[in-house]
Amino acid sequence: MKRRSFLTGALIAATTPDMLAADAPIAATKQPPVLPAKPAAKSIIELNPPETLLPILQNMQMRAIKPTPHKPPIYQSEQLVLLHFADIHNDVKNLRRVMEFALHYRKYLTDSLLTGDIAGGSWNDWSDEMMAVPGFKDVLKTLGNHDIYKWNKTTRNATPRECHDKYFAGIESWGVVQPGGTNPDGLCYWYKDYPACGVRLIGLDCMHYDDAQQTWLASTLEDARVKGLAVVTSQHYPPAGKAVTGLPNCPFDSLQRESLGGALPRAVEAVDAFQKAGGEFVCWLGGHTHTDFCGTINGKKQLFICVGTAKNFELWCDSRRVTGEKSQDLFNVVAIDTYHKHIRVVRIGAEWNRYLQHRVTMCLDYAARKQVG
Ligand SMILES: [Fe+2]
Repeated sequence: MKRRSFLTGALIAATTPDMLAADAPIAATKQPPVLPAKPAAKSIIELNPPETLLPILQNMQMRAIKPTPHKPPIYQSEQLVLLHFADIHNDVKNLRRVMEFALHYRKYLTDSLLTGDIAGGSWNDWSDEMMAVPGFKDVLKTLGNHDIYKWNKTTRNATPRECHDKYFAGIESWGVVQPGGTNPDGLCYWYKDYPACGVRLIGLDCMHYDDAQQTWLASTLEDARVKGLAVVTSQHYPPAGKAVTGLPNCPFDSLQRESLGGALPRAVEAVDAFQKAGGEFVCWLGGHTHTDFCGTINGKKQLFICVGTAKNFELWCDSRRVTGEKSQDLFNVVAIDTYHKHIRVVRIGAEWNRYLQHRVTMCLDYAARKQVG
């Protein structure tokens, strides 16, 4: 006799008492099944393989050359492409992953830039392993608020000299220009020119911003204007705090607005004066918010892009971060196209946030300060 299984609908043989006796080992089959071993966490390259990324990076790298009349532009592989990350907060494991990515795709990246919060909570939360991560000394860096907190019994904040010595090891190889050279004054602000791309990248020390830095910024901007270089500024804080307007429906502008402290109003005014004198300003690149934050500064013609935290840590971050999955990492690759006046961004790592904003790529027109793709 046969009956039908209520689970599968398949015909199965009816069970008789004799058969139960004969099938005594059945009890053993009712033990909880042995689950397969969890696969090893994937490397950042496995999660972001060349077959997925190269079509994007190869296009980001293309730079248009001014065309002759009635002819289309010629393209060359000379675009300024930056790996931009922030708020790594002493996460050695994730830093190794960022640098593994940077080294693997170095052919397509001009430089890597870390806009602050290299240390954990303070100098007490710091591992010397950070500076030993291969490639990290070559990363362009700016200071964040946590990078200056000493919080010991005698001193609260570190001086520029102390920060320079701690975080800027290797600055001689960055190719940057500092007032007084890259070491003598221990200052933590700099600029770097990319003449083939027509861009000057400025790194500000927003934690020790003083009259001397303001004067230096104004003269550095004026020098860029005279040389015909478009300017990107980088620093830790969002340059205007909350005095900003988000870009409509921009997925890189998080709906979470909880940590917008810090601002650099005098630097914003210096950039404004640079623009009014005819200088070409691209955008501010920052961090601090731990969520993606992007928009325009109220009353100014200035875009800013703050990237979420590269640390594998959900506090303040608006995204779930799962070890071994794509969301373990979070940083951007940013290309500056001075011909089309475009900023192109691709997200590496956490793409989704709690509001289901999906960050994959975006293209901003920095002249019109609008999202165009
Ligand atoms: Fe931070």
